Amino acid sequence: EMNPQERAFQERIDAGEKIEPKDWMPEAYRKNLIRQIGQHAHSEIVGQLPEGNWITRAPTLERKAILLAKVQDEAGHGLYLYCAAETLGISRDELFEQLHSGKMKYSSIFNYPTLTWADMGAVGWLVDGAAIMNQVPLQRTSFGPYSRAMIRICKEESFHQRQGFDIMMKMANGTEAQKRMAQDALNRFWFPALMMFGPSDKDSVHSAQSMAWKIKMNTNDELRQKFVDQTVPQAEYLGLTVPDENLVWNEEKGGYDFSEPDWNEFFDVISGNGPCNTERLETRKNAWEDGAWVREAMQAHAEKRAARAKA
Ligand code: 3HC
Repeated sequence: EMNPQERAFQERIDAGEKIEPKDWMPEAYRKNLIRQIGQHAHSEIVGQLPEGNWITRAPTLERKAILLAKVQDEAGHGLYLYCAAETLGISRDELFEQLHSGKMKYSSIFNYPTLTWADMGAVGWLVDGAAIMNQVPLQRTSFGPYSRAMIRICKEESFHQRQGFDIMMKMANGTEAQKRMAQDALNRFWFPALMMFGPSDKDSVHSAQSMAWKIKMNTNDELRQKFVDQTVPQAEYLGLTVPDENLVWNEEKGGYDFSEPDWNEFFDVISGNGPCNTERLETRKNAWEDGAWVREAMQAHAEKRAARAKA
């Protein structure tokens, strides 16, 4: 049962008002937001690693420049989101400590390896495609700084998806070997992309409360269905086959029927036992340690300047 303060807060949410950092908010709202925004930010930063692996291996200078721009964008997305999380009273250092210790998650998809150049196409097309599906509704989320970060991020995401789809078009219409690579990438990334939307609604622990507070605007299964309905025609356009023999258009549903992802694999991956979890976290921890001298130098410089300003 809500007390008067919680009821007034819920009425603000229901009226579509934006909650700003200095406004009163239930402690559970704050914690839920720190969890979701922090993990969203971690996803952006860890998400740089699979594609970063191919910047030096890009087939042309143009592809290298495009991929470099995309990976740099993701760093910026992480920054917007870490700043939004910090307005809720958690520090950047705490957020990173929780990532490195496994207390906070990042998107499961980044625990899969990127084995060929076609994977750069599949990641842009499917992973950023799924991310767009999830992030566009979040532009209307109730927490002001998160909503504004989403608006900024969504402006850049369409380029991310288009450059991936462009790689897939080039390869699917290229040599037999290129077409086989594109199909292999689709085979390996299809179901992990479906897992990005989270567990099925019946297993979603946060959805009900998150939707009541407009921290989540749609259910996991709803967005997954929308993603499949939008992406299958794109695969057909490429002349590639979605690796799911149960995929079939369901007229009365007005959408595709499709196989559920392997939820054992999903829960395995998000509990740290995916193909690349150890490698990804090691890389992040090394980056944090290797960058310590920069943070310390900037801290010392800032303190000197502050002291001079006082003198
Ligand atoms: N990867 C890792 N963990 C996941 C997950 C996934 N794909 N899907 C769900 N989980 C976790 C949840 O975090 C939760 O665990 P927690 O309590 O420790 O946080 C648990 O599984 C139960 O799932 P719920 O459905 O109850 O959790 P949510 O309500 O938080 O729904 C979500 C999951 C849909 C990912 C939601 O958190 C969300 O919309 N987050 C914001 C968007 C986001 O983080 N996207 C990540 C990809 S975007 C991206 O990578 C950048 C792009 O540029 C590539």
